Amino acid sequence: MQKLTLYSLNALVILTPLLVFNFLASCSDHESKTISSSVVTSVRRDADWKAPDTSLIPQNSEGDLIRYGRDIIVNTCLYFGPHGRISTKANGMNCQNCHLEAGTKAWGNNYGGVYSTYPKFRERRGAIETIYQRINDCFQRSLNGAQLDTNCREIKAIYAYMKWLGQNVEKGKKPKGCGIQQLGFLDRPADPEKGKIVYKSVCMRCHGNSGQGTLKPDSLSYLYPPLWGPHSYSTGAGLYRLSRFAGYVHDNMPFGTSHYAAQLKNEDAWDVAAFVNSQPRPVKIIKIDWPDISLKPVDHPLGPYADSFSELQHKYGPYGPIQKAKELKAGLLISSTKTDKESKGSKTSR
Ligand code: HEC
Ligand code: HEC
Repeated sequence: MQKLTLYSLNALVILTPLLVFNFLASCSDHESKTISSSVVTSVRRDADWKAPDTSLIPQNSEGDLIRYGRDIIVNTCLYFGPHGRISTKANGMNCQNCHLEAGTKAWGNNYGGVYSTYPKFRERRGAIETIYQRINDCFQRSLNGAQLDTNCREIKAIYAYMKWLGQNVEKGKKPKGCGIQQLGFLDRPADPEKGKIVYKSVCMRCHGNSGQGTLKPDSLSYLYPPLWGPHSYSTGAGLYRLSRFAGYVHDNMPFGTSHYAAQLKNEDAWDVAAFVNSQPRPVKIIKIDWPDISLKPVDHPLGPYADSFSELQHKYGPYGPIQKAKELKAGLLISSTKTDKESKGSKTSR
């Protein structure tokens, strides 16, 4: 009987370490000792999300839509770039420039957790956001272009691809390795001058001496996408926040690097983010953003803010003190609502 429990526990250990730890908490002392030794030998690194194999995309009309969606992610500029077949409003970047390997690379800003987590409340919008709206956010901000009509085949295709990618992800869960890593904060402001040195020694050979990138010989698409200038992402884009840029670049640049073989030190990633995001780029201010300014992330570079830290500190850091003040305020709010409830409670009991 005990053996059986151990076997089933082992199976659990491999599947979900978290579950096991919950289980252990309810075991007696003796049991947890025997079991924890088996935990030590069988715990594997919790695996990163892995995309389904593209050969498994069905050979039917739904499959055609999924394949079309994938192609738009990889070759966006051919459809929507300055010489696009469908529209010419976007900046010539591809979704894949920032969502690597067609949005499947672990820690490469992939789409593994999209279908499972949307629609969801987003603080930037101050409302529930659908996958269509999220896709259009990137068209408008990162591609500095126009939103797609939600009835068009292209947005339906992108949706179908994201749904197919996330088909094995439990509803509500964001698997490990999805999105962008949150790097630890520096205890100083990120420094554009230091970042310039990193840029020149590590990034410039591909992204160019003025961040303009390099077009492919066909002049339609980029071999190396631009990091600033008129054809780059706008100030309304996620990468314009230093934490998003630093996390993305740390795990993925120079191109070919991965989360487990990162080449940049944390501080290099923050400094190069500060340098790149100090260069000129298209300005896009979306008025409806952040209806509740107290929900702005600490590294949001554009005011107004609910706290008294400067725009400069919100842009470059140090973020620790801002974060601390935010938590303190939240803590005070919680304790004041508690006291509220308590005092109400005591009133009714009287
Ligand atoms: C310049 C870089 C860039 C480009 C180009 C770009 N995105 Fe994004 N995208 C981001 C960033 C940054 C985020 C936010 C990631 C985060 O905060 O973790 C994001 C988030 C998303 C999300 C939400 C992911 C999630 O898990 O919540 C979707 C969906 C998305 N992008 C779709 C697209 C599509 C479709 C395109 C092409 C039309 C595109 N993106 C092009 C940078 C980019
Ligand atoms: C060997 C060439 C190479 C080097 C070196 C390199 N990159 Fe990139 N970078 C790329 C390529 C290629 C892409 C687009 C990837 C794709 O489309 O699959 C990219 C994409 C990006 C993007 C997202 C797209 C955009 O244009 O905004 C950022 C940000 C970025 N690189 C920053 C950096 C930084 C910062 C460095 C230096 C630390 C760096 N890269 C070094 C080749 C390189």
